[in-house]
Amino acid sequence: MKGVVLAGGLGTRLLPLTRVTNKHLLPVYDKPMIFYPIKTLVDAGVTDIMLVTGGNNAGEFLRLLGNGEDFGLKELHYTYQKGEGGIAQALALCEHFVGGDKVVVILGDNFIQGTIRKAVDDFERQPEGAKIFLKEVPNPQEFGVAELDGEKVINIVEKPVNPVTNLAVIGIYMYDNHVFEICKTLKPSKRGELEITDVNNAYIQRGNMTFEVLPGWWADCGSFEALIRSNLLVARENGVQA
Ligand code: G1P
Repeated sequence: MKGVVLAGGLGTRLLPLTRVTNKHLLPVYDKPMIFYPIKTLVDAGVTDIMLVTGGNNAGEFLRLLGNGEDFGLKELHYTYQKGEGGIAQALALCEHFVGGDKVVVILGDNFIQGTIRKAVDDFERQPEGAKIFLKEVPNPQEFGVAELDGEKVINIVEKPVNPVTNLAVIGIYMYDNHVFEICKTLKPSKRGELEITDVNNAYIQRGNMTFEVLPGWWADCGSFEALIRSNLLVARENGVQA
């Protein structure tokens, strides 16, 4: 299983914090944001990792992370995304790196409590398709939202005005090797990006999407509120009375 960490984009929702640095280098409690998703992969046994970054501060990732020594890695792979083409465009840049393997993709601004090791092991055994994680949230209109029929996800809507459930699709995705041919079929969305939600809906249509509801907390850093919430959750996890 290969791992991909997505840390591109221009972080415009967090201006002016992101005027002189990349969003994923901002602090979350006592570490730069990007440390947490890399650790989530390594803790799940995924150690062959490519980081996709972009913007004006891409070189800082190399200075910060080097060959991944902080995570016990011998090497870390890097690639560069020009502009803001979306999550699926960033993932498509990793086609040669992933080769014939499966891949677990994590957004560089997503934090979870606990480990995804069991889900990764389950997906290793899943013959084909994809696997996503869902989490009940109070503000589903800010995320991709899953519609379920019994034990199946039947549709995902990106940032719906009127969400049909409160189940957000969190930013950790597992795919088989068909993901790259799916990425090639995508058209830009209204925000001009290739959407990961369109990739996930393609798997749903193929009938081989599985999911898990994440047990612990989950946070992302898409807004100022989400960023402060992530800081507080991670600090409290480390025993800080915040
Ligand atoms: C992205 C995805 C969305 C997902 C979210 C999780 O949103 O498009 O489906 O729920 O990450 O963090 P974005 O941050 O690109 O707006």
